[in-house]
Amino acid sequence: MDTKVYYLDEDDMDKINEAAQIIKNGGLVVFPTETVYGLGANALNEEACKKIFIAKGRPQDNPLIVHVADFDISKYVKNIPEMAQKLMEAFWPGPLTIIMEKSHLIPGAVTAGLDSVAIRMPSNKVARRLIELSGVPIAAPSANLSGRPSPTTIEHCIEDLSGRVDAIIGGERCEVGLESTVVDTTGGVATILRPGGITKEMLEDVIGRVEIDPAIMKKPDSNFKPKAPGMKYRHYAPKSPMVIVRGRDEDVINYINKRVEELEKEGKRAGIMAADETMERYRGGFKISVGSRKQLGIIAANLFDSLREFDKIGIDYIFAEGFPEEGLGLAIMNRLKKAAGYNVIEV
Ligand code: TXA
Ligand code: MG
Repeated sequence: MDTKVYYLDEDDMDKINEAAQIIKNGGLVVFPTETVYGLGANALNEEACKKIFIAKGRPQDNPLIVHVADFDISKYVKNIPEMAQKLMEAFWPGPLTIIMEKSHLIPGAVTAGLDSVAIRMPSNKVARRLIELSGVPIAAPSANLSGRPSPTTIEHCIEDLSGRVDAIIGGERCEVGLESTVVDTTGGVATILRPGGITKEMLEDVIGRVEIDPAIMKKPDSNFKPKAPGMKYRHYAPKSPMVIVRGRDEDVINYINKRVEELEKEGKRAGIMAADETMERYRGGFKISVGSRKQLGIIAANLFDSLREFDKIGIDYIFAEGFPEEGLGLAIMNRLKKAAGYNVIEV
């Protein structure tokens, strides 16, 4: 397949319109959002949505998020729970995905056969215009090949999906850099199924009690069935093995320095993913700083790009510093743990 690539900004209406025609005709378009790039198709067209799974190599049982540009979503859901209504008003447009019971309009291919549907209104202007001009909601998972880190630049999308989709549009770097928070509102209490840019604390300020699906931070075992099917797959993974090292700064630095030295003696290349504060204290290895511990938002935005960077240079083993699992740190650690296959060492 020939993939058209358009570098554009939010005012490039002609190009966005061309991409919208592709969506209308049942094709696939990769587009930017504020979280990560998405791989979109007409959410009301079952055949078009099936093509998403093939292009990504995505397991059939992992449902897609439906992206809308209008607050009137009543056609796509059975009812809008009061807490969902409050969350929409507080956080849309933005990085929050809300699970509700689906209506008959949403095809089974989108929800992987579930009775519920995940809906989100992105704030990115190109995404909003694309949805508006298409005249239909757009189903879109992250625009990476299944298993790879999610794409936060157009180059990541070209790397993974060139030749597999009709068009790739965008150019800007994703601001948030981690996928949206997914919150289930079909039960009595809102439950976070995937942590993201909108934190538990932010949700609680609006609707009171919020639970976190216990499956989020644990290593899935073989009979594990998380409520968000996507959470059970190895994901975000760089090609090389990775370990997260946690403890007092001093101990983490000593441990990593020692292991890196050992690896280098064997002729191997070690990668270190550190914060600005500790970066200078590593003696060897290929070092990437993801940002200051005082600005977790920047660390979140750099995370996936850094993982892909290690792949590019060809590293044998990656060491990553850990972060406290609160606020945005919960989402950062969730992605890091999945990237590391839950390989965490406490020192
Ligand atoms: O920020 C984002 O959410 C990005 C951009 C493109 O919007 N999209 C994204 O999609 O991350 P994806 O497909 O990579 O992740 C969707 C997650 C998966 O973990 C999936 O299992 C869960 O949402 N999900 C989708 N529909 C669901 C449903 N009905 N019930 C429970 N979980 C659902
Ligand atoms: Mg994904």
